[in-house]
Amino acid sequence: MTNITAVQAANSTETLESSLKKPLLGVNIDHVATLRQARGVNYPSPLAAALLCEQAGADGITIHLREDRRHIQDADVYEIAEQLTTRMNLEIAATTEMLEIARKVKPFWVCLVPEKRAELTTEGGLNVAGQMPWLTDYIAKLQAVGIKVSLFIDPEDKQIAAAVTCGADAIELHTGAYAEAGLAGNIDKMNAELTRIKQAVRTTQDANSNMLINAGHGLTRDNVHAIAQIDGIYELNIGHALIADAVFVGLEQAVIMMKNAMYESA
Ligand code: PXP
Repeated sequence: MTNITAVQAANSTETLESSLKKPLLGVNIDHVATLRQARGVNYPSPLAAALLCEQAGADGITIHLREDRRHIQDADVYEIAEQLTTRMNLEIAATTEMLEIARKVKPFWVCLVPEKRAELTTEGGLNVAGQMPWLTDYIAKLQAVGIKVSLFIDPEDKQIAAAVTCGADAIELHTGAYAEAGLAGNIDKMNAELTRIKQAVRTTQDANSNMLINAGHGLTRDNVHAIAQIDGIYELNIGHALIADAVFVGLEQAVIMMKNAMYESA
């Protein structure tokens, strides 16, 4: 099966041409839950946010059930899984507790991420190469109940090779270094990071043409276009900047604006 066929298999409603030129948008709604948890009340509702994002054209919804439950709670995961009409991408650390939850919820995707309690957000990619036997077994246990598995990795050859060997269905390339360079106004570094991400896409395609390639972290309306236009990127996962836009323009409009920024050059 070619990469193209894999894309079609994952989402049969997408035509080949449009899916390659227009990556899908997965909206990460963790920070709707962050706002709720800040007061310990029952609003705003992550479920309502997920449904609004879908109505506005989001192709999927991402939530990260962290071990410390700092934003998304277990009840959110079950509630959202029941009502989504697109696809859930459940981000988890590769722990035994999370394996049990994921196998109960059965989201379309699980994305395995590294997790440190003290971090503000996911800081680096997963060290797949350093935990191959554990991850190979972990991925197989998720796939055994029909879940597709993605690994959040830095755009490094060693991690790509390890992700392929572990049997993952997809990788998500960490775009944090690219985004940070942009925020620091370091255009040379930003371009270098963009080149690194493009190279990582090619390396992945060469290593396994069936593997889907996603990207995310730190993407905003200002920096997303160059990433969205990389041939072979299947889906972008965007959270913080989109929810920040929503404070000013509303969630539906924020989704529409992000899609416009992905597809239309400035
Ligand atoms: N992808 C992964 C794997 C993540 O952990 C995150 C952050 O939760 C994102 C994408 C979204 O990053 P951001 O909130 O910076 O858009």
